Amino acid sequence: MKLLAPSILSANFTKLQEEVKLVESVGADMLHLDVMDGHFVPNITFGPKMVSDINRMTSLPLDVHLMISEPEKYVEDFAKAGADWISIHYEATDHLNRLVSHIKAAGCKAGVVINPATSVDVLDEILPYVDFILLMSVNPGFGGQEFIDTSLNKATKLKEKLGHMNKDALIEMDGGLGLKNVQQVRDSGVDVFVCGNSIFGSNNPSETIKKMKAIINS
Ligand code: DX5
Ligand code: ZN
Repeated sequence: MKLLAPSILSANFTKLQEEVKLVESVGADMLHLDVMDGHFVPNITFGPKMVSDINRMTSLPLDVHLMISEPEKYVEDFAKAGADWISIHYEATDHLNRLVSHIKAAGCKAGVVINPATSVDVLDEILPYVDFILLMSVNPGFGGQEFIDTSLNKATKLKEKLGHMNKDALIEMDGGLGLKNVQQVRDSGVDVFVCGNSIFGSNNPSETIKKMKAIINS
């Protein structure tokens, strides 16, 4: 199944409830929430309080992408705040396997993220344990950046690995996705499509979501 996950990073935070209701009403499958700490990435967003408030305004699953140092300290807080999916960066922890177990024990789907310059080969030992892998197709930190083309080969390579090691795990891609490349991204084997600027920055977010969904499900 293919899933569209609008990223609220490009939404207007002063009218977030409206924006969330809008994407929910036109078929978003989940909401992607970017947590940034100004240390692991050069930008700051929000913490568990925001996740908890959003959880009260929507019934969509919450996909929490932690771009933070020492993620082990905060996973529990985000699970309690209502996260359904939690992903942590390979580059941010020395104890990936332990952290993946903690996320699952907290009742969430567990994902591992890799940056654009990190090879999918480093994931071999963790693949059997994850629910999903998130491939960054821009350098994390900001919305509205240009898609990095080598991400497509990474998805294809990862899809093949998962075929041997974990058929149930999903591949998510995040950064620079829009109507112009979503078909290519789908063809590379991606299951979950994160879109920020291409939805919230478009003139007609509802139309964009409908078009996007039609392509990913075709
Ligand atoms: C970037 C974030 C993304 C971001 C994607 O660090 O992880 O989720 O919202 O935004 P777009 O779709 O605008 O590239
Ligand atoms: Zn993200």
